[in-house]
Amino acid sequence: MPITVRVDTSNVYNVIIGEGLLEQSGALIKDAAPGASRVMIISDSNVWPIYGRRLEESLSSEGYRVYHHVLEAGEASKSMKSYAGILSKLAENNFGRRDIIAALGGGMIGDISGFAGATYMRGIRYIQIPTTLLSAVDSSVGGKTAIDLPEGKNLAGAFHQPSLVICDTETLETLSFDTFRDGCAEVIKYALIGDSDMFDNLLEVMVEDHVEEIIAACVSMKRDIVSEDEFDTGRRAILNMGHTFGHAIEKLSGLEVTHGQAVAIGMNIAARAACRKGFCDELVPYLVERISRRYSLPTETKFSAGEIAEAAASDKKADADSISIIVPTGVGSCRIEKIRMEELEGWCE
Ligand SMILES: NC(=O)c1ccc[n+]([C@@H]2O[C@H](COP(=O)([O-])OP(=O)(O)OC[C@H]3O[C@@H](n4cnc5c(N)ncnc54)[C@H](O)[C@@H]3O)[C@@H](O)[C@H]2O)c1
Repeated sequence: MPITVRVDTSNVYNVIIGEGLLEQSGALIKDAAPGASRVMIISDSNVWPIYGRRLEESLSSEGYRVYHHVLEAGEASKSMKSYAGILSKLAENNFGRRDIIAALGGGMIGDISGFAGATYMRGIRYIQIPTTLLSAVDSSVGGKTAIDLPEGKNLAGAFHQPSLVICDTETLETLSFDTFRDGCAEVIKYALIGDSDMFDNLLEVMVEDHVEEIIAACVSMKRDIVSEDEFDTGRRAILNMGHTFGHAIEKLSGLEVTHGQAVAIGMNIAARAACRKGFCDELVPYLVERISRRYSLPTETKFSAGEIAEAAASDKKADADSISIIVPTGVGSCRIEKIRMEELEGWCE
């Protein structure tokens, strides 16, 4: 039986998680977003050949006119050029305000499709169909949409909630080991910031052994955080646990260190610093290191504290003289700590 999580934001929608949902997606979309006649599937060059036809057939069987637009796989496609291409494709095919975009892919596809949905004709509905663990537990829920600019990641974007999220867990079976592991870092992040039982569980069994329940637990946690702070002005920042240091390491490595690996190192840095500074006891960094190793994620980096601090200071979340760090206060609890820029290096060891 699929699991449904209801998200109560400015737009109320369901996240449906289960095996084999792609085949039912036409009917699910018709129910959640009635009144459309056209659907534009946006996907990437890895995902489309494996799953495109299943989605297309399910939509056609419900009477939709189905179009598709496939981007080259990889973060480089989350660009202004691809975004403009999507808008043109919608316009050329006479998409109207009641028509729909379906984002079939990982976070790259979800983010750019959502941004096209937020802006085409001042906003049309879109459906997230996440096919990576990261997009299932994180990016498909919460309505943050974006593209990258040459000057930095996610610099142009909008808040635009999807009308439905369909997470077919069967699609995760074709992910590479590295991409699945990147998603595991985000799962660990949820456990660390807010769910000690999940953390203990992740030390006992592996994510893949009960993936639907894990995704549902992460989505429920994100739902709670996002419903409290939809527009990211307060508590939503806790979702950045490990990310300030992680983004810095990703950037310093020229993206050689993947996002999930960098987030794992970032969580280890945050836990070690939190312990040194008296926010938690030494069990926390010990357990964060243990869980990272269990999921084949790194805990250390070759970059110095000074290099990480400098790269983090140029992060967009930094303002002139202070930066917010998410600090674990235990396993399953955390707080937002605003620190002065000159203190940052002491947090990066
Ligand atoms: N909007 C948000 O709240 C939010 C949150 C976190 C991350 N993000 C964004 O998400 C993006 C990263 O997402 P991602 O890690 O899913 O990366 P991604 O979308 O680039 O996917 C990673 C790789 O996996 C491939 N892939 C996807 N699904 C597959 C499948 N089922 N089988 C085989 N291959 C598959 C893709 O083609 C790609 O090569 C970044 O752009 C990041 O900024 C957004």
